[in-house]
Amino acid sequence: MSKQKKRPEELRSHRWYGVQDLRSFAHRSRAKQMGYGSEDYAGKPVIAVINTWSDMNPCHSHFRQRAEEVKRGVWQAGGYPVELPAMSLAETFVKPTTMLYRNLLAMEVEELLRSHPIDGAVLMGGCDKTTPALLMGAISMDLPAIFVPAGPMLSGRWRGQPMGSGSDHWKYWAELRAGNIDQAAWEEIEDGIARSPGHCMTMGTASTMTSIAEVLGFTLPGAASIPAPDSNHSRMASLSGRRIVEMVWDDLKPADILSSAHFDNAIAVDMALGGSTNAIVHLVALARRAGVDLKIDRFDEISGDVPVIANIRPSGAFLMEDFYYAGGLRGLLSNMRDLLELDCATVNGRTLGENIADAEVFDADVIRGLDNPVAAKGSTAVLRGNLAPEGAVIKASAAEKRLWQHAGPAVVFEDYNDMAARIDDADLPVTADSVLVLRNAGPLGGPGMPEWGQLPIPKKLLEQGVRDMVRISDARMSGTSYGACVLHVSPESFVGGPLALVRDGDTIRLDVPGRVLEMQVDDAELKRRRAEWTAPRPHYGRGYGALFTGHVSQVHEGCDFDFLERGAPTPEPEIH
Ligand code: FES
Repeated sequence: MSKQKKRPEELRSHRWYGVQDLRSFAHRSRAKQMGYGSEDYAGKPVIAVINTWSDMNPCHSHFRQRAEEVKRGVWQAGGYPVELPAMSLAETFVKPTTMLYRNLLAMEVEELLRSHPIDGAVLMGGCDKTTPALLMGAISMDLPAIFVPAGPMLSGRWRGQPMGSGSDHWKYWAELRAGNIDQAAWEEIEDGIARSPGHCMTMGTASTMTSIAEVLGFTLPGAASIPAPDSNHSRMASLSGRRIVEMVWDDLKPADILSSAHFDNAIAVDMALGGSTNAIVHLVALARRAGVDLKIDRFDEISGDVPVIANIRPSGAFLMEDFYYAGGLRGLLSNMRDLLELDCATVNGRTLGENIADAEVFDADVIRGLDNPVAAKGSTAVLRGNLAPEGAVIKASAAEKRLWQHAGPAVVFEDYNDMAARIDDADLPVTADSVLVLRNAGPLGGPGMPEWGQLPIPKKLLEQGVRDMVRISDARMSGTSYGACVLHVSPESFVGGPLALVRDGDTIRLDVPGRVLEMQVDDAELKRRRAEWTAPRPHYGRGYGALFTGHVSQVHEGCDFDFLERGAPTPEPEIH
């Protein structure tokens, strides 16, 4: 923080534009080809505006305009903005899952920054995987970087009721299948559940990860909570453009900001938000990129000390628009200041504590006090046992409490297609006490660890009024989902984890308070089953899928690629 200000000839981009040789002649003449003169770029920080806009990403549909607003700020502050498009990773459209491509976007961001004459970066993202991917790439490249979160969309509406994207469609899909609403109502819900640009406005992965980006110090204070269509969002974009230019002169890089305390703060805030379980995977990956040794057990340790105080769906009652009007993330942080490390650095050059010094809460029902929480303890429990030697997680606050301690017979599905084909079969031997088990849904088995962990309740149980039951898988679950779903079982079944050995009728025991997940099958029988088990064939023989298959880590290690997480720093490119 107390570094000398950079001089223009110390800028990284100076090597491209500022020296007198044949190559820099080419760079300058090609800038002129695009209509820029030396007055635009000479001696100025070159700022990459990494834009994950695309026609396939509704959550980022305002990013063309926001990119212009970022550029306006960069120009105002004396920088030279250049927009670099990057993979948009739309959660709803990309198959089999965006998680397959998170590391590809992270790698793309790192290489975009490395290969171009860039001095600093504005990272534009918000739809689930874009936030961790942009931050992972920026941390590895370690140039000054600021994050512009997409902002949540406006609240959904149906017949006067607020509706949450990603949450209520599950709820009403179950009601449609149970015959409680008709097709016309279902189509009205389709019209009203996503009303504006912006990411999902429940406390799903997007809202969780953009809030975490702010707590990690990567955004201007309050940025993560501003609804996407709000004019304050435009002004935040411009201010971020102004600030990144100052950060370049100050040489304020991710490595100067991040510490292990930032990650503890991020976990605490994840718990207070009732955040998505996906945050666990992403935070472990981000920490390892930053050289911080973060184990999944840290989530459980911190969870026990932090109540859920954001009354936001799916753990609570309200939506992100309400959260913003109630004071937003700064308000929430001020209510839990005693649980945070307040001297953590942030991109604006001030500490987290300084950034929330004057924050207020305007609706004590939406943002609760620590003495009046939505849930007394954090939302995430890490389970272990003979079914998950490396851990599994459950978002207990989103499950019916009666299921926190439960034992029942397994109903096993070999993979997603098997589950989809049989789940509503009238002859499926399932009762409300059964434990649904889905395997081959992990990082390699899915592939890409899709969000299949909220297995649907079998139709015949829905008709009996059952709305929650214990479900176990090596998949992830959307942060907007809910239910007694044990997720991230590690190691995954595809590589021979114990989930591969479960059989129909085995008794599975879940004990959330005791942190146990086990199958009550003796060791000799498990040994016999293991001897019979054969590894499935890999999904990919070529292309990016083969790269993914060869290098992705298991979920308790963050699902990063081994060669991105480790190794000597990549050298700067030679400029010939
Ligand atoms: Fe983009 Fe939910 S679909 S955040």
